[in-house]
Amino acid sequence: MSREIPEVAVEALRAAGLVVEVNPVDRAATREELYLGLPRADAFLACLTDRVDAALLESAPRLKVVANFAVGYNNIDLPAARERRIFVTNTPGVLTAATADLTLALLLALARRLAEGEALVRGGRWKGWGPLQLLGLDLEGRILGIVGAGAIGSAVARRAAAFGMRIIYHSRSRSSRLEGNVPGAVRVPFEHLLREADVVSVHLPYSAAVHHLFGERTFRAMKRDALFLNTARGPVHDEGALVRALKEGWIAGAGLDVYEKEPSVHPELLTMPNTVLLPHLGSATRRTRDRMAMLAATNILAVMRGERPPNLVPELSALA
Ligand code: DGY
Repeated sequence: MSREIPEVAVEALRAAGLVVEVNPVDRAATREELYLGLPRADAFLACLTDRVDAALLESAPRLKVVANFAVGYNNIDLPAARERRIFVTNTPGVLTAATADLTLALLLALARRLAEGEALVRGGRWKGWGPLQLLGLDLEGRILGIVGAGAIGSAVARRAAAFGMRIIYHSRSRSSRLEGNVPGAVRVPFEHLLREADVVSVHLPYSAAVHHLFGERTFRAMKRDALFLNTARGPVHDEGALVRALKEGWIAGAGLDVYEKEPSVHPELLTMPNTVLLPHLGSATRRTRDRMAMLAATNILAVMRGERPPNLVPELSALA
């Protein structure tokens, strides 16, 4: 393991007789640490901060499975894994609710200016209630545009509908999951969504095809009072273009849990009052992280028994 994860999974792997080596530092593993550990590993429990590329896989002749501790797996070179017949697994399902909750938390924080209000109180600058103080945006009746209608996008839609928001979404095909969650949700072309939504929320897995999907053109196509949320993957937005969009008023605000080059954040975002910035907390609840860890362990144990891992990523299904 490239870093400490919930102990419950380490115990399960040890109980099954595996020798578990955990990089003992609580930070992303360095390339050197990965190159040191991988050559003797049969299984690698990886984090999204580990770049698992062809060179790293080449250094691991025994490796049978990379179990990613995340639902996203854009940190792993799938063609290189396929070529070496290495299974790649992820942790779908168990983090849907936590990530959807966090998206709503970001939306509420941004719409109701919570960070600005909190800073006022903590900074000792609050002079008392005022009729025009920190006026925000009502969610009821606003249009939420969901980009990517998988499990998380659908769960966000359901939560937002409970706040009285109207839901439109864009995805390659009709989502019965999202429409089942929110009767009345309408699938629309991407340009329509940009034009109509008061809030645009990204729930796409990252791939080269969606790199900088949100850039100058798309931000300019949004409403001037629209809010942009990204709790998926940072490189779906162009951070430089987002800064210009916020500075020049092409859109009104942004709530981010992910960044183009984590952990660095565009310095201008840090000083803007119309942003809420979180440190990639989407799945960060104790129960969810325990479940993610157990799912990753279950996938490893299946491969060690010579079985198909339950959460093999679809791109590698031909390996099983
Ligand atoms: C994931 O699982 O992809 C999340 O980003 C982790 O928090």
